[in-house]
Amino acid sequence: MTRVAATIAAQDGRAISPAAAASDCPLTLQGITVSYGEKPAVFSVDAAFPANAMTAIIGPNGAGKSTMLKAALGVIPRLSGEVSVFGVPIEQARDRIAYVPQRASVDWDFPTTVIDVVQMGLYRKVGLIGRLSGAMTAQAKECLDRVGMADFAHRQIGQLSGGQQQRVFLARALAQDADLYLLDEPFAGVDAATERAIIDVLKLLKSNGKAVVAVHHDLSTVRDYFDHVFLINVRRVAEGPVETTFTTENLNATYGGRLGATHMAELEGVAS
Ligand SMILES: Nc1ncnc2c1ncn2[C@@H]1O[C@H](COP(=O)(O)OP(=O)(O)OP(=O)(O)O)[C@@H](O)[C@H]1O
Ligand SMILES: [Mg+2]
Repeated sequence: MTRVAATIAAQDGRAISPAAAASDCPLTLQGITVSYGEKPAVFSVDAAFPANAMTAIIGPNGAGKSTMLKAALGVIPRLSGEVSVFGVPIEQARDRIAYVPQRASVDWDFPTTVIDVVQMGLYRKVGLIGRLSGAMTAQAKECLDRVGMADFAHRQIGQLSGGQQQRVFLARALAQDADLYLLDEPFAGVDAATERAIIDVLKLLKSNGKAVVAVHHDLSTVRDYFDHVFLINVRRVAEGPVETTFTTENLNATYGGRLGATHMAELEGVAS
């Protein structure tokens, strides 16, 4: 973080801790705690999601993965903790983040077309009132093309299959032209071809210097898809490069032994 940015942040009245302020890390969480009731869903979590990398957030159902992402984005309030994005408070860096929510949490019945959904990703650039120029519409179409959905531009979003909807929301994220992509289970319920299409797009984003963070359940593809892992079960269990952190010991600690011997045996050679 530059001295100027630190000064602006200080003038803005938001304190940034020295550790976060020193970092140009795409996303840093410090001591994040979130609670919906008495028991915290996420407790005192620290994380540093690296640049030029794909990070998997891994943990069992109910571990707090979606909650952590939503709290990082400020979509839900946190009890405590600090979030910084590229070294500044998130409020100053919203236009650098694209977020694709978990599919089950989206109302797919809203009456809008596929191209409209993708163009929503462009509004931040032109303002909500400004008319989208022809160039912007062309850009939205290109993003649809990148996910193989150009032929569906004028279809109602609710009339697509689940996997097709997932591709459209990825196209919207691409339209945002962000530097940090947060995706909550982008591969949930999609077929092998769609999974391949999505991973190819995400790998291309990474090779263009973007940071990609995805909640991911399929342990068998972690080594192939990701560079970095963050293991969570309410608390942070482990975080680091896949080679050193995606270990059977850490997985056991994350899933509380609930993966079972058969599943663990299948992962032998996948996790070391
Ligand atoms: N809006 C809510 N109100 C109350 N409790 C909630 C709410 N959203 C989530 N929870 C609870 O918080 C905990 C964490 O939920 P969260 O959705 O973050 O888990 P997750 O790791 O994303 O799980 P999954 O793999 O099933 O998507 C769970 O116990 C869940 O029941
Ligand atoms: Mg979730």
